Amino acid sequence: MLVSEIVEESSIRDVETKIPPVSLDAFYGAKGPTDKQIIFRDALEKYKLFGGGVGGGKSRAICAEGIRLSFIYPFNRGFLCRSEGEAFRRTTLNTLLSAISEVEEMMGQRIVVRNGHNQTKKEIRFINGSMILYGGLGVTPEDQDRIKSLEIGWFGVDEASEAPYKVINMLKARLRLKLPDGSYPRYFGMYASNPEPGWLKNEFVIPHQLGNPKDDHIFVQALIKDNPWLPPDYLDELKRDNPASWVKRYVEGSWDAVEGQVWPDFDRSVHVFPNETSDYEILPVQETKFTPIGGLDHGQTNPTCFLGGYTDADGNIFIFDEYYFKGLVSTHCHGISERFELEKFETIEADPSMMAKTREKNGIPWSIYEEYEEYGIDLSPANNNREAGWNRVGEYLRVDPNHIHPITGKEGSPRLFISSRCINLLREIPEYIWKRVSDENTNPKEEARKLNDHACDALRYLIMSLPSPYELEKVDQAPEGSFNSMLKQFQSSNKKGMVVN
Ligand SMILES: Nc1ncnc2c1ncn2[C@@H]1O[C@H](COP(=O)(O)OP(=O)(O)OP(=O)(O)O)[C@@H](O)[C@H]1O
Ligand SMILES: [Mg+2]
Repeated sequence: MLVSEIVEESSIRDVETKIPPVSLDAFYGAKGPTDKQIIFRDALEKYKLFGGGVGGGKSRAICAEGIRLSFIYPFNRGFLCRSEGEAFRRTTLNTLLSAISEVEEMMGQRIVVRNGHNQTKKEIRFINGSMILYGGLGVTPEDQDRIKSLEIGWFGVDEASEAPYKVINMLKARLRLKLPDGSYPRYFGMYASNPEPGWLKNEFVIPHQLGNPKDDHIFVQALIKDNPWLPPDYLDELKRDNPASWVKRYVEGSWDAVEGQVWPDFDRSVHVFPNETSDYEILPVQETKFTPIGGLDHGQTNPTCFLGGYTDADGNIFIFDEYYFKGLVSTHCHGISERFELEKFETIEADPSMMAKTREKNGIPWSIYEEYEEYGIDLSPANNNREAGWNRVGEYLRVDPNHIHPITGKEGSPRLFISSRCINLLREIPEYIWKRVSDENTNPKEEARKLNDHACDALRYLIMSLPSPYELEKVDQAPEGSFNSMLKQFQSSNKKGMVVN
């Protein structure tokens, strides 16, 4: 159904129920919706995530949508909630009640029936027979029982990342309300959330980033800059008073910024191609003139990751594809050989511990290296200095203001680019966090995150076979008068002398 049809249907029903027709915008208050709220409002996907930084107008939007759906479909019933009931009462409920008051003021009449807000039953009854139920999402047994017996036409979950996925699944199954005239309302499951790792990111954000959203799912991102109704100094003060990783996540709305990241400079819009603003494709190696290099992290029980990359003459690295599977060495060797033209590779850098002769074949000690070799894959032992590796990958990710971008040709560029084909590498990088974080926090989620570093290790091995870009630069572009520039001058005048003689 199109929005125009909804509006049409809305006005037909409004006449029937003696409610003056209202414009779609009225539900967002006197100032009307923001541009991003309009996109969220008009999206007809069943499941909608309004995500982003603080103050983007997300809570306000799900409240406005709740009232709007109550108006479009008389006798509709919705559930507006947050994981914890008391938190809902202190935050989202206030937003809902003030949104209702604003609509009443604009329409010049009550839209809630007299004494229609029952705080004990946690419900608000509208004059057209619709109702909003509200509360917590299953922390208390009463909450849980209530959800189990719901029949609703929509739900809205504020701060949805706090809610466990299994409760959300239960809510989805409650979208089956039948209206008294035998028809069905259009069903919606709406979520508002700041960028947090977890089910919302997997369900909405990653598929969106990969350009392949799930059916009937939409992710709308709203940032502070998208909300003109905030105080003028709000943005600057948040930027001034908070650490960089907080700003990246809660102001810039990055779903990849996690506290304690090993590579905080990683940014999808900068390092990954194609991305939202560029169709540029990092070509598979068959189609380029560059010599590929590989990185391999072998897993016994964990996945094995092979990354294929190549460098250009300006010291940029392009990671063009990955192999990432669990299994036996033989399976990996076939899989990797099928996916990559290994004979073209200059080197394949692998975990040096694979050289240990921990296996036995016909009574002779045998290493995993030798097993790969049997299948025609020659590996080189990588430099496994972890600190140096983390640092070097970080250097390649860093945007150097003097480096020319190999794709745009503009000044200011990182030196590492990753194809959006490498979905596992791209999933692991933002979740690759310092061990210190998991030591302080026994949260199993943090521990698990540290385990998923197979693609990051393969990347580290590959990049450690290349020189540090900044070391090269120090010698090449040493400032006038510096020790390095004098050394360079001395070396070049010496050479001249030698030629003359
Ligand atoms: N359409 C609108 N008209 C007027 N004010 C609005 C509108 N949308 C949002 N606001 C105001 O902007 C402020 C931030 O909105 P809201 O609380 O919905 O943001 P949020 O994205 O939920 O923020 P947080 O991430 O902190 O939960 C609030 O004061 C809200 O009343
Ligand atoms: Mg909010």
